[in-house]
Amino acid sequence: MYRNLRVVPQLIFGRGSVRQLADILAPQRQDDLSQVVFLVDRVHREKSFVRELPAAAHDLILFVNVDTEPKTVYVDELTRQVKDFSGRRSCAVVGIGGGSTMDLAKAVALMLTNPGSSSDYQGWDLVNHPGIYHVGIPTLAGTGAEVSRTTVLTGPTRKLGINSDYTPFDQIILDPDLLAGAPKDQRFFTAMDSFIHASEALLGTFINQFSRAFAEKSQSLCREVFLGDIDAAVADEMLMIASYFGGMSIAYSQVGVCHALCYGLSYVLGVRHGIGNCIVFNHLEEYYPEDVRTFRTMLEKHHIELPRGLTVGLGEPQMQEMIRVALSLEPLWQNALGPDWKAQMTPERARGLYLRM
Ligand SMILES: NC(=O)c1ccc[n+]([C@@H]2O[C@H](COP(=O)([O-])OP(=O)(O)OC[C@H]3O[C@@H](n4cnc5c(N)ncnc54)[C@H](O)[C@@H]3O)[C@@H](O)[C@H]2O)c1
Ligand SMILES: [Fe+2]
Repeated sequence: MYRNLRVVPQLIFGRGSVRQLADILAPQRQDDLSQVVFLVDRVHREKSFVRELPAAAHDLILFVNVDTEPKTVYVDELTRQVKDFSGRRSCAVVGIGGGSTMDLAKAVALMLTNPGSSSDYQGWDLVNHPGIYHVGIPTLAGTGAEVSRTTVLTGPTRKLGINSDYTPFDQIILDPDLLAGAPKDQRFFTAMDSFIHASEALLGTFINQFSRAFAEKSQSLCREVFLGDIDAAVADEMLMIASYFGGMSIAYSQVGVCHALCYGLSYVLGVRHGIGNCIVFNHLEEYYPEDVRTFRTMLEKHHIELPRGLTVGLGEPQMQEMIRVALSLEPLWQNALGPDWKAQMTPERARGLYLRM
C-alpha cells in the first residue's frame, strides 16, 4: 500500500508576503462578527508585522508561550480561551512562530471542532471532524511543521503527534523576512532539523524517488547556506525552502536514528527539538558518516557550541525511560535499520549512544 499523501493546498512564498494575509482571510469571514484567532509567539509581540496584522474588532490575538514545547494541557487551555472569548465559532486560526507555535495553531484548530482533550487524539487518524480553517506562518525555518500532517504534543503519558489528514494547514505563508532577528544558535539548530530530516530520509530503507528529490535539494540548500558565503537575506529564502522540502521528504518516507534518540532525550530531559537533534546527530557517524562530518564542519564554521555531558549522573530509572521512549518508535527504526532493527539497536546499544551525549 502506498501512502495517499495530503499536502498543504495553498502556499505563498516571498518577501513581505505576510501582508497578503488580509486578502487570504477575507473569504473566510462570513460577516462582520466572524472571528479570526491569531496565535502568535510572544517573542514577536512588539514587532511591526504583528502590529500590522489584519485583526478586526471581533478577532482574538493570543500571544503564546513556547518556553517549553507544546503540551496537551496548554492546547486545551488555549482552546478554552478561544471558546470563552465570544461564544461564536471561529472562522480561521492563524499560527505565527516557530514549529512550536505552528503546532499549537494546528492543534487548537482541531480541538475547536472535536470534543474532549487534545491528549485523546495523540496517535494516528483519531480525529473525526475537520478542524477550523488554519493558516501557518513560520518565523523559524527547519522543522517542516508548515507542511506536515502532525502536531507534536507532550501529553500525560507520551510525546506523540496528532497525525491526521485534518492536521495540515489549509494555507501557508512563507515570508523569509520573518526569519530576521532569530538568535544565531536557534536559527542554526532549527535549520539543522531539515538537514537531518534529509539525511535520515536519504539513508533510510523507505527511500523512494519522490522523497529523494526533496531531500537532496533540502540538503544542498543547507550546505550552501552554512558552508558557502551567502548573503543573509538570500540565505533566509533558501532556508525557508530547505525546511519545506525537508518536510516533504519525510512526509513520504520517515525520520531515523537521530529523531528516535532525540525523542527519548527530550521526553526525559526536556531538551528542545532543534538542539536535541544536533546533540544526537553529532554522535551518529556510524549511521550517517558523511553527513555527520559535514554537520561538524558547519558547527565549526559558525562557532556553535553543543552542550556536553547531558547524561552524566542520570539515574538508572531515567536512563531506562529514555531508552524505552526511543525504542518504542518502531517505524523510525524500521526506516533507519530495516526489518531486523531490533537485533542492531538493542537497549545496550542505545544506552551506549546516550552515555556519549
Ligand atoms: N509538526 C511537525 O511536523 C514538527 C516537526 C518537527 C518539529 N516540530 C516541533 O517544533 C518545535 C521546534 O520548533 P522550532 O525549532 O521552530 O522552535 P520553537 O518554535 O520551539 O522556538 C524556539 C525559540 O525560538 C523563538 N523564536 C521563534 N521564531 C523566532 C524569531 N523569528 N526570532 C526570535 N526568536 C524566535 C521562540 O520564541 C522560542 O524561544 C518542537 O516543539 C517540535 O516538537 C514539529
Ligand atoms: Fe525534526
